[in-house]
Amino acid sequence: MAMNKLEDLRQRKQKIALGGGVDRIEKQHARGKLTARERINLLFDEGTFVELDAFVKHRCTNFGMEKLEAPAEGVVTGYGQVDGRVVYAFSQDFTVVGGSLGEMHASKICKVLDYALKVGAPVVGINDSGGARIQEAVDALSGYGKIFFKNTIASGVIPQITAIMGPCAGGAVYSPALNDFIFMVDKTSQMFITGPQVIKTVTGEEVTAEALGGAMTHNAISGVAQFFEQNDEECIMEIRRLLSFLPSNNTETAPIFDSEDDLNRIVEEFNTIIPDNPNKAYDIKDVIHALADEGDFMEYQEHFAKNIVTGFIRLNGHSVGVVANQPKFLAGCLDISASDKAARFVRTCDCYNIPLLNLVDVPGFLPGTSQEYGGIIRHGAKMLYAYSEATVPKVTLILRKAYGGSYLAMCCKELGADIVLAWPTAQIAVMGASGAAEIIFRKEIKGADDPVVERQRLIDNYETEFSTPYKAAERGFVDDVIEPSASRARLVDAFNMLSSKRENRPGKKHGNIPL
Ligand code: HXC
Repeated sequence: MAMNKLEDLRQRKQKIALGGGVDRIEKQHARGKLTARERINLLFDEGTFVELDAFVKHRCTNFGMEKLEAPAEGVVTGYGQVDGRVVYAFSQDFTVVGGSLGEMHASKICKVLDYALKVGAPVVGINDSGGARIQEAVDALSGYGKIFFKNTIASGVIPQITAIMGPCAGGAVYSPALNDFIFMVDKTSQMFITGPQVIKTVTGEEVTAEALGGAMTHNAISGVAQFFEQNDEECIMEIRRLLSFLPSNNTETAPIFDSEDDLNRIVEEFNTIIPDNPNKAYDIKDVIHALADEGDFMEYQEHFAKNIVTGFIRLNGHSVGVVANQPKFLAGCLDISASDKAARFVRTCDCYNIPLLNLVDVPGFLPGTSQEYGGIIRHGAKMLYAYSEATVPKVTLILRKAYGGSYLAMCCKELGADIVLAWPTAQIAVMGASGAAEIIFRKEIKGADDPVVERQRLIDNYETEFSTPYKAAERGFVDDVIEPSASRARLVDAFNMLSSKRENRPGKKHGNIPL
């Protein structure tokens, strides 16, 4: 081959690798953002990234676009390895026409989604874009439509992870929203359907882009994003960490890690962690960390609906999804946001074969008109639905309160918990002792010589008799009451026993989860 052809190839690739050029790259860095290619290089194991479609060009001739060169069409696509496993990725290049999405940019993303689905590998999408390429008009919209469709078809088959690392506006937000996980970066990422300018024109409301759709807004208020990261580097490292808890696709299980952590490790603190006063709180995250291999816990939606804690741990090296009531917030009550968060997490774990551990200390559903008007009935129903539908191993550990409907919603035996364990401090009842005694002994309390003393006596009686795990254990709703300090060993054992679980459900087109 003539040397000039080789040289020509090299020069072409070098030009493409420079994206929108040195000035725009500098501008990107000055904003605290990495470039599309730097992000890709960080994501993959060194030297494993293989780029596809670097030579693709747009076909737009509107508004003089035929003169516009857009290296790699404003999106770097391809595959590589993350911890030795194949992962596909696309990374929008803001230095090229603002990372805007036209027909061919979209077709590059679609190709990656098609390949990933074909080989059963996760997809990581890095978003940094001004949205639909305005000059391409309806071709750009069509591109988005195709991506949404493919995202939906791939949902539940291959993990789809989004990182928002710049603007993501208008309908562009819906591909991330159709993914399994959204990461956002503090101060440099924004998502919104209509931006501050449009809002001001239509409603007169003034809001900054950051307050409207910044990383903390979507992590803490809207619940659109699940992970909040300080900068691009941290975000990409956390995506790699998340991938380590996930299988490559729905026919596999998550990778198994060697753990140095003693499977029979006794956790003495568990014997005293539950306060004597039932109204006192403790931090459920202490329990999760103490149970996990090496204390490693990757929290999902840390900043949203803090009354329920969700995330990934490993037990005996195997990935486990944890759903736990948090007594420190709203006394651990279930409300609309907690129900949405937990139900979505349960379904995410179920579709990717990740067993579920449910840690229960729940006094009930949060009362109030805002909850009822907001539809707590249909939101709470999502939890019942998600748990009942889940066929992965499900293990429930009741630490303290397990009252009424919320006891059921946290995956009781009837919703298909395979193993239910309880600490001796568990109180499995229709409601708390004082509320129960007030209702069923109203006449006795009213007629007593000293109603205050009588009331307390009846509450104490109820508590001794019914606020325990033993009534439930008598019926077999609890498989065993265990010493709290032995919880790790018992849970490891339960998941080990359940590892070959197979459960089939009647065939149907799809269920109709309340939305
Ligand atoms: C074409 C675009 C573009 C777009 C940015 N650029 N967005 N080109 N289509 N959507 C170009 C700019 O012209 C500029 O080109 C370069 O990218 C960098 O943009 P700047 O404006 O200089 O950058 P910055 O000041 O950082 O502002 C970034 C921005 C702004 C906030 C994203 O560019 C912006 O508001 N863009 C338009 C956003 C928008 O309304 N998009 C359509 C959303 S609706 P030069 O050559 O000067 O460097 C949508 C519908 C999807 O997306 C529907 C799906 C169903």
